Amino acid sequence: MRTLLILFVFIYFDKGRCTETGAQVLSITPKTQEQVDILKNVSTQYQTDLWQPVSSQFIKEETQVHLFVPANSSKTVKDLLQKFAITHEVLLPNANELIEMQMRNSSTDPRSSATFYERYQTLEDIYDWTNRTLQNNPSKVTVILIGSSYEKRPLYALKLSINNRPNKKAIWIDCGIHAREWISPAFCLWFVYYSLSFYGQNQDITNILNNMDVYVLPVMNPDGYHYTWTTNRMWRKNRSVSKTSPCIGVDLNRNFDANWCTEGASSEPCSEIYCGAFPESEPEAQAVANFLREHKDSVLLYLSIHSYSQMLLFPYSCTLEEAENHKELLEMAKEAAQSIRRHYRNPYKYGAGARTIYLAPGGSDDWAYILGIKYSFTFELQDRGRYGFLLPPSEISKACNEALIAVKTIALKVLEKT
Ligand code: ARG
Ligand code: ZN
Repeated sequence: MRTLLILFVFIYFDKGRCTETGAQVLSITPKTQEQVDILKNVSTQYQTDLWQPVSSQFIKEETQVHLFVPANSSKTVKDLLQKFAITHEVLLPNANELIEMQMRNSSTDPRSSATFYERYQTLEDIYDWTNRTLQNNPSKVTVILIGSSYEKRPLYALKLSINNRPNKKAIWIDCGIHAREWISPAFCLWFVYYSLSFYGQNQDITNILNNMDVYVLPVMNPDGYHYTWTTNRMWRKNRSVSKTSPCIGVDLNRNFDANWCTEGASSEPCSEIYCGAFPESEPEAQAVANFLREHKDSVLLYLSIHSYSQMLLFPYSCTLEEAENHKELLEMAKEAAQSIRRHYRNPYKYGAGARTIYLAPGGSDDWAYILGIKYSFTFELQDRGRYGFLLPPSEISKACNEALIAVKTIALKVLEKT
């Protein structure tokens, strides 16, 4: 009897270990309105993180939902899905392993052959890198403190400037508005490295830098980014404390003054697309807005880097109306997407934000556009959902190189127009 019991316990726990696999990402396509409602309920009432769409309000029939489910809610969620006959596919059975893989860096894995730019970097390491880049390139790089975050971390933008021509125009690139989109800061670092290494070697980047300065803000949301490294890998917003709710964080890409907090944003602090108390209520958004207001006569091109879904978006996202130079923007995005396809055989969608994905007011791209920066784009980098936010480090170089091609294509088009 006792042996039997021990055997039973052994089998039970062993089975437990095999099925309770830790965090997973599920892909679910609701077929009916009832299933939509249940999914909305699951994603808001249980401990899960929606990857796609960004907020439960956008869940609709026949459209894929990507849901990150931590180990402790896995059974409850799957039971619920089963109860209502909602089928799911496991996109990532081993999310924890992927998270671990993304966090491997030179200190945990000093013998890996991947370079600094082929790994994800902690916020500390990005600050150190900023300093080093400045030290190593004193004639080409300056570092500008444009403000500080809610938790008082500095917001440093690098200015790449090869010469001092009078009336020099400029490009602005920001990364890391959304904390969990790690490929985004990785791209900003990649871009700076590429620009400094291949100036004088590569014709396109040489041409661009001969004629324009480039401002690069590697992490617009340092508090959130830090938080994804230490506490919650799936965090999106900044870390500001609400006066009216225990929920933390504002979606910085809903906090700009462009049809602020209308349809497509939420005034509910617990929402992932919370617009904040008022436009530019957040120090991170305000810092960027102040800088661009001060430099709006020189900055011709605004670029904001996000992930994932492989899209090149342009205004408007805050209204379904067409931008005044819609045709021009469409043509530029199309050419950029074509160059990615030609060089990397990877498809990118392109179009005006509101018509290509969804209404999303208060975004930095629309705000910059309305300010007068007529070439304004948001890039959604790799991938299309295979790994989502957990894109392995081995994919960084491809993801960044294709985005780089798109940046160069668009920057050269802008140059032609000056
Ligand atoms: N995924 C991005 C977001 O939800 C899309 C940004 C497009 N631009 C915009 N202004 N919403 O923030
Ligand atoms: Zn984003």
